[in-house]
Amino acid sequence: MTSSNLPSLRVAIVGAGPAGIYAGNILTNTVAALRQAQEPGSYRVAIDLFESLPAPYGLIRYGVAPDHPRIKGIVNSLHEMLDAGTTRFIGNVEVGRDISLAELQERYDAVILATGAIRDAALDIPGIDLPRSFGAADFVAWYDGHPDVPTEWPLDQREVAVIGNGNVALDVARVLAKHAVDLRPTEIADNVLAGLESSAVTDVHVFGRRGPGDIKFTPIELRELGEVPDVDIVVHDEDFIDADPTGAANNQLKVMLRILNSWRTRESTGASRRLHLHFYHSPVEVLGSAETGVSGIRFERNEPIGDGRVRGTGEFREFAVQQVYRAVGYYGTPVIDAPFDERAGVVSNVEGRVRDASTTGDTDAPVIAGLYATGWIKRGPVGLIGHTKSDAMETIAHLVADAEAGRLTPPAVDGDVLDLLDEREVAFTTWDGWLALDAHERELGATHEHTRERVKVVPRDEQVQISRGALVP
Ligand SMILES: Cc1cc2nc3c(=O)[nH]c(=O)nc-3n(C[C@H](O)[C@H](O)[C@H](O)COP(=O)(O)OP(=O)(O)OC[C@H]3O[C@@H](n4cnc5c(N)ncnc54)[C@H](O)[C@@H]3O)c2cc1C
Ligand SMILES: NC(=O)c1ccc[n+]([C@@H]2O[C@H](COP(=O)([O-])OP(=O)(O)OC[C@H]3O[C@@H](n4cnc5c(N)ncnc54)[C@H](OP(=O)(O)O)[C@@H]3O)[C@@H](O)[C@H]2O)c1
Repeated sequence: MTSSNLPSLRVAIVGAGPAGIYAGNILTNTVAALRQAQEPGSYRVAIDLFESLPAPYGLIRYGVAPDHPRIKGIVNSLHEMLDAGTTRFIGNVEVGRDISLAELQERYDAVILATGAIRDAALDIPGIDLPRSFGAADFVAWYDGHPDVPTEWPLDQREVAVIGNGNVALDVARVLAKHAVDLRPTEIADNVLAGLESSAVTDVHVFGRRGPGDIKFTPIELRELGEVPDVDIVVHDEDFIDADPTGAANNQLKVMLRILNSWRTRESTGASRRLHLHFYHSPVEVLGSAETGVSGIRFERNEPIGDGRVRGTGEFREFAVQQVYRAVGYYGTPVIDAPFDERAGVVSNVEGRVRDASTTGDTDAPVIAGLYATGWIKRGPVGLIGHTKSDAMETIAHLVADAEAGRLTPPAVDGDVLDLLDEREVAFTTWDGWLALDAHERELGATHEHTRERVKVVPRDEQVQISRGALVP
C-alpha cells in the first residue's frame, strides 16, 4: 500500500477468538507497513480487544476437543500476537452489557465484531426439547470447562444418538465413546474427567441425513474414530450407496470413503463400547415424555437423487436411545444493537462491512461507517481456525481503505476505556492476568497426580481472581 492518507486510528475489536486476534495482528502489520512506506510516518493504531470471558482464544479454548492438542502451534502463534502488546486484551467485559456498542463507537474510529458462535442452531422437530435431548454445543462447553455452563453432565444412560455428519458430531461422539482413562493426559478439567469416569454409555449412534459421500467430516478426524481404544465401529452395508471412493469429488472425500468402506469388513473386537454410523436418516421426532425424558428417536429413511441431494422414502425407523445430541451446526452470537441476520445467524455485512439491515433480503442497505465483522459472525459457523485469518485480511483491507478515504468518524469521546470500566466496577482482566492464569493452569497440570500439560480452571470468579491477582504488586 502506498497511500498517505491513513490517519492515526483507535480500533475496538469485540471477541478474542482467533478471528479477533488475527484482525488485530493484521491491522497492526498493515499500519506498520504503511508507516514504513511513508515518511515521516505518523500513522498509528491503538487496538483494544474486548472479550466477554476472562481468558482469550474463544472456541480454541472452549470448542476444540481436549484430545486434539495438535492445534497447539496455532495457539502459540496467537499467543505471540497478543504478547507483542500491540493489541490490548481486555477480558471479562461483555459488549452490550458492560459497555454498549454505541459507547465503543464514540470512543473508537472503528469497531470490529468478532463474536463467533457458542450455541447450537435449532432443530425444529417434535420432542427436541425433552429432558435428555441436548445441543452439542452445550456438551462441548461442558467438556471444555466453559465457565457459564453447569459443572455436571448426566452420563447415566447407555444408548445415545448424535444427529449430524460434521466434525462437531465426530468430536461429541468420540468424547462420549472414549473411556475417561484415555482422556486423562489431556487438559480436561477435573470435574469433567470425574463425570466421564462414571459414564454408563455403551452405544453411540451417529446419524447423517445424507450419504457417506456427503459427509462434512475431515479425514484425520474420521480416521481417529476408528482408533479409539476399546470401541468398535459399526456401519451398515445398506447405507453404502454411491460410496465408491474412485468416484469421489475430491481427495479428502476419497480418503474418507476408503476409511468408511474399510470399516464394513472390520471384525468386531468385542469392545465394551460401540460407535454406530448411520447414513440416509432424517430425524423426524425425539420420542419420550416430559416426565421420563428421551426414550428413542424416529427417522425417515432417505435415498439419494443425485448431486448430493436426498428424498424421503416414506419408511420410518425408530431407535431406542435415552439421550439425543443435535450437532447440526452452531449459531452466531449477536451483539446488542448490531444489525443481525436472524436467518443466517450472522451480523449483516458485505465482505466485513456491516450493513444497516436486519434481513438478508435488503441487499441495498447502506453500510454503517466504522463498523465491521470478521470470523464466524461474518460468514457463519463453518470453517477451520485458519479460515478466520483470510476473513480478517478482507475485513481489515476494507477498514484501511475506509480510513484512507476519510470515511471513518473520529472518536467523539477521549480517555481510556479502562477508566470507564473501573468506574462501573467491571472486573476486567488483562493480558498479564491471562499470563498469570495460564501459568496457574500449567502449574496445576504439572503437580497433578497424572501429570498433564494444564488443568483448566473452570469457575469464572476463580479465573478472574487469579487473573486480577497479577495486577496487585
Ligand atoms: C466444537 C468445535 C471444535 C472445533 N475444533 C476445531 C479444530 O480442532 N481445528 C480447527 O481448525 N477448527 C476447529 N473448530 C473451528 C474453530 O473453532 C472456528 O473456526 C473459530 O473458533 C472461529 O473463530 P471466531 O473468532 O470467529 O469465533 P470464536 O472462536 O467463537 O470466538 C468469538 C469470541 O467472541 C467472544 N464474544 C462473544 N460475544 C461477545 C461480546 N458481546 N462481548 C465480548 N466478547 C464476546 C466469545 O466469548 C469468544 O471468545 C471447531 C469448532 C467447534 C464448534
Ligand atoms: N477437528 C476439527 O478440525 C473440527 C472439529 C469441530 C468442528 N470443526 C469445524 O467447525 C465447523 C462447524 O462444524 P459443525 O459440525 O458444527 O457443522 P457442519 O460441518 O456444517 O456440519 C453440520 C452437520 O449437521 C447436518 N445437519 C444440519 N441440519 C440438519 C438437520 N435439520 N437434520 C439433520 N442433519 C442436519 C448437516 O447435514 P447436511 O450436510 O446434509 O447439511 C451436517 O452433516 C466445520 O467447519 C468443522 O469442520 C472442525
